[in-house]
This record gives sequence, structure tokens and C-alpha cells, in this order.
Amino acid sequence: EKPKFKTVQEVVAANEGLPERYLQPLTGGHEDQPLNGPVPEMDIPSIDLSLLLSSSEGRQELSKLHSALSKWGVVQVMNHGITEAFLDKIYKLTKQFFALPTEEKQKYARDIGNVQGYGSDMILSDDQILDWIDRLFLTTYPEDQQHLKFWPEVPTGFRKTLHEYTMKQHAVIEQFFKGMARSLGLEDNVFLDMHGENARMDTRFNMYPPCPRPDMVIGAKPHGDGSAFTLLLPDKDVEGLQFLKDGKWYKAPIVPDTILINVGDLMEIMSNGIYKSPVHRVVTNREKERISVATFCVPSPDKEIQPVEGLVSDARPRLYKTVKKYVELYFDSYQQGTRPIQAAL
Ligand code: SIN
Ligand code: FE2
Repeated sequence: EKPKFKTVQEVVAANEGLPERYLQPLTGGHEDQPLNGPVPEMDIPSIDLSLLLSSSEGRQELSKLHSALSKWGVVQVMNHGITEAFLDKIYKLTKQFFALPTEEKQKYARDIGNVQGYGSDMILSDDQILDWIDRLFLTTYPEDQQHLKFWPEVPTGFRKTLHEYTMKQHAVIEQFFKGMARSLGLEDNVFLDMHGENARMDTRFNMYPPCPRPDMVIGAKPHGDGSAFTLLLPDKDVEGLQFLKDGKWYKAPIVPDTILINVGDLMEIMSNGIYKSPVHRVVTNREKERISVATFCVPSPDKEIQPVEGLVSDARPRLYKTVKKYVELYFDSYQQGTRPIQAAL
């Protein structure tokens, strides 16, 4: 059965005003920094992925990585091996997909209770305030978990490009896992081993249409990612992504040609709390639409995620329990508005 609610693009096209379901309560905790107010820019380094694992030149990159992930949980990655032309193709195909007529996009609509496919914000309860976002969510790896019926056949080249992007990202993910381990003084494969051979990749294409009330509507509500980490291509022109640090929001810079990587809850657990899974949100824009493409690295379902041995000591006691079935936990707490990582304490 297909969902009966409208996507944000359909709400906008219907021109019937702003439905109440999108309005944040005035006491929504954004008083100090209103949704449409100014925010300072965060100061995060760019690391050179091509040098990260080099024995001669890696030291400086590893130390930048360590400081960025322990302070912000976010880093910009350059020289990641994916050309600018290829990234442009991803952006272009994303825009082209969301620009298709509704009937065309509905061919890929997700089924009720499922995440894969095209649709609006996940609706988990009747009183949930909705995010001003439409998305296309696809599991891309391992190949036998792809549901191609949700993979757009138009725009031309979408499928082929996503297959290619998946393989390119896979290489980045492996290097990044090793770099994180090395930056913590651990053997290269510790996180990769815990994450598992058959770890999944999910790619989510996001579209935030222009919004009439950026002061009262949010693009993505504050959350931490339920991944080990997330590879993000933020819009190249339109800002909107913000990270919370010490109770204050900061905006992510737009750095051409880089991939933004943020730590997810599972990496925070594996690193025994040293690398932070940052709370982040997306604000809307009155005039411009914004797109982004996020890939979540999700451990094999049979793996137990817990702080790795080398990071637990008398000086640094174990902060988290073992977690299994983290994804189920994630959706339960998403509904309750709590942080799922608290369940692992
Ligand atoms: C998200 O983290 O949910 C989306 C990030 C973005 O759109 O930039
Ligand atoms: Fe996120």
C-alpha cells in the first residue's frame, strides 16, 4: 500500500497554504538561535584523504582528523579520488529526479512502514511535526540488498551513476575507517572488522523546497545519525546544514570538491566516546531549494557494536554497552524525540 500523504513538493504545488503539521512549536528550544537567525560558521579542517594512510606524510592529516572528530565529529575530506565532474553529475541527476512530474516520481514511492523509495519525511506518529523535506532513499550496498524497483530509470544514467558512486564511496569508506583507527593509535582494521564485511551503504537524496516560513519550519529536525559515519554532499550553493556544539548552532561551510563526513552514533560507541556523533539540523530557505546526498555506513546486522578494546582503560572506563539491532532502536527513539545513543549508555 502506498502512503496517502503529500510530499512537500506536492504541498507547494497544491498552493493551499502551509499545513499545520509542519509548524514547530514556538517553544521548540530554538529561542536562543531562531531557525532563520544568523549562526557562526564552524571551523573544521579539510584533510587530504590521499595522504591519510601514507607513512611519510600521514601524520599531520591524522592529527587534524583526530582533532576535528573529537571536537566537532565532522571533517571535510579532499583528494578523495572522486572527480569534480563526477560529483557534478550526482548533483545534476538529483536535481533532475526531483524536477520530474509527480506521477513519474510516485513510481518509486516507498511502501508504508518502509524506508526505501521516494517520499516525504518518515511519518511515525499522528502528532509528529514534519520536516520540510522530500527524499529518495536507496540501499546501494551490498548489491544483493539493492531493490532496483526503487531506482529511477529516468533521468537517464541515474542507476549507472549511482552504481559507480557506490563503488567510489566504498573505497573512501575503507580508507576513512583505517585512518580513524590509526588516528587513535589502533591497528588499521579494528573498526572495519567490527563494522563487518557485509556492512551496508544507504544513500539518501534530499530535496528541501523553498519554504514560506523558514522561521517556523525545519528542513531536518535535530538528530544524530544512526550510522558509523555519513558521507555528505551538501548543496553547492545553498547553506542550511548546522551542527550543535556546547549548546550552540554553527553552520557548515560549503567547500567545493570535498565530501563532508560526520561521525554517527555507532562510531561514537566504537571509539568509546572519543569521536563525537554531532547533533545536526537543516534550516529552510524562503527563495531557494536545497539538495543534498547522504550516504550512511551501516554495520552488518549480525555485528555487535561496542567500544573497541584498545580504547577502554582504567583512565578511560567503558562508556557504552554492546548494542545490537541499533536501527530498530533508532526509529523507536526518533518517534519519542530522544537520542538513541542514550540507550547504549
Ligand atoms: C541530514 O543530516 O539529515 C541531512 C543533511 C543535509 O541535508 O545537508
Ligand atoms: Fe543527518
